Amino acid sequence: MTGETLFPAGFVWGAATSAYQIEGAAAQGGRGPSIWDTFARVPGRVAGGHTGEVAADHYHRYRQDTALMADLGLGAYRFSVAWPRVQPEGRGPVNPQGLDFYRRLADSLLEHGIEPWVTLYHWDLPQALQDRGGWASRETAGRFADYAAAVYGALRDRVANWTTLNEPWCAAFLGHAAGIHAPGVQDPATAVRAAHHLLVAHGQATRAMRAIDAGPRLGINLNLDPVTPASDGPADADAARRIDGVYNRLFLDPLFRGSYPADVLVDLGGLGGLEEAGDDDLAAIAAPLDLLGVNYYRRWVVAARPEWPRLGGPPSPWVAAGDVEFVASDRPRTDLGWEIDPSGLDELLLRLHTEYPSLPLYVTENGAAFDDVPDAQGLVPDQARIRFLDGHLRAAHRAIQGGVDLRGYFVWSLLDNFEWAEGYAMRFGIVYVDFPTQRRTPKDSARWYREAIARGGLNGSP
Ligand code: FCB
Repeated sequence: MTGETLFPAGFVWGAATSAYQIEGAAAQGGRGPSIWDTFARVPGRVAGGHTGEVAADHYHRYRQDTALMADLGLGAYRFSVAWPRVQPEGRGPVNPQGLDFYRRLADSLLEHGIEPWVTLYHWDLPQALQDRGGWASRETAGRFADYAAAVYGALRDRVANWTTLNEPWCAAFLGHAAGIHAPGVQDPATAVRAAHHLLVAHGQATRAMRAIDAGPRLGINLNLDPVTPASDGPADADAARRIDGVYNRLFLDPLFRGSYPADVLVDLGGLGGLEEAGDDDLAAIAAPLDLLGVNYYRRWVVAARPEWPRLGGPPSPWVAAGDVEFVASDRPRTDLGWEIDPSGLDELLLRLHTEYPSLPLYVTENGAAFDDVPDAQGLVPDQARIRFLDGHLRAAHRAIQGGVDLRGYFVWSLLDNFEWAEGYAMRFGIVYVDFPTQRRTPKDSARWYREAIARGGLNGSP
């Protein structure tokens, strides 16, 4: 009965990280401060008072890390470039040492036969730009396009796959409405404005990069989740429509249909921010892309709570939706409290395929935090993560069987790292990092992933 669940030839097997979460060397190599350096220093913002100052010390250990990746058999590695390492002030001359680091990293990957995938912005805005308004200011979009062009010009000969922004929803709404991410602003209207400016930044960068070289493939990484009403009633259905609107469609529609969704404009009416979007902005945002990176972690189940205030409640990333309840289920959870639901992944991928067709898709993040502890033999038995990854890869396989053009999967994350407001307590790596010694130990899930990669799929029938 055993059988195998095999993925198509050419399927990309990868792992992902981001600069601030692993590099460390925050004040070395000419790097300037980012909004995360500032935010992490504010008491109470990050659990344990942790910062990314040293992180997994990848800046100094990248060669060891690429060798580790080669040992796992990874076909691709997605990393982000730290804008303040390349442009310490966020504008003006580039720091050659910064670009050099990423050149050396890309070369080391290529020597091992691993494809480098670059994300240009994973939340570490140069502090100097925040001082001039950050994403609340339209100017930042232009600065991003200049920065993107500089990195692209320097690395396009080595890197064939590029994404502009990682999860603009988080940057906009966790950073400017909930205030639980840098820069820690708590103002819904600013968050909506930031969302638009992030999309404009993506559009302008895409245009600038294409003008330099039309060869490499360009895309964006969105965090997307299915939103399910808690009941069959019309009020819950409407709550689901609204959350889907401000979370998924607010980004998908302008990128792939050229306009903001009309119902979301109505829902957000009064907050402003999107009204300034002229035809030029929308045309830039909708510039054709070669791929969409999908970051999937969970499903949302929502119910209407008309007795709660829509606006003006406690700070929350869910702007103009204070009257929506996020309903917990009895599904198992990760250590971060995120419910585990692989079926949300194939549901999401099928939806993207049907509603936003002709887009090659990649799962560019998927993974789980568990409290991993090395055992007496020095092994890290993380069965729960193996079950998580196995379940989600099976969901990805179902999506492909259902006709979705899904071309790859990147596990989040290669290494245990600085998990933003959670600090180092939440371990997402398939490789354990002992932070005091920086020793790396592949967890059982890393060995399991290596076997999956070698086999081209999973043990056991679909
Ligand atoms: C995503 C982020 C990534 C990591 C995972 C757990 O939202 O892109 O940096 O924090 O969540």
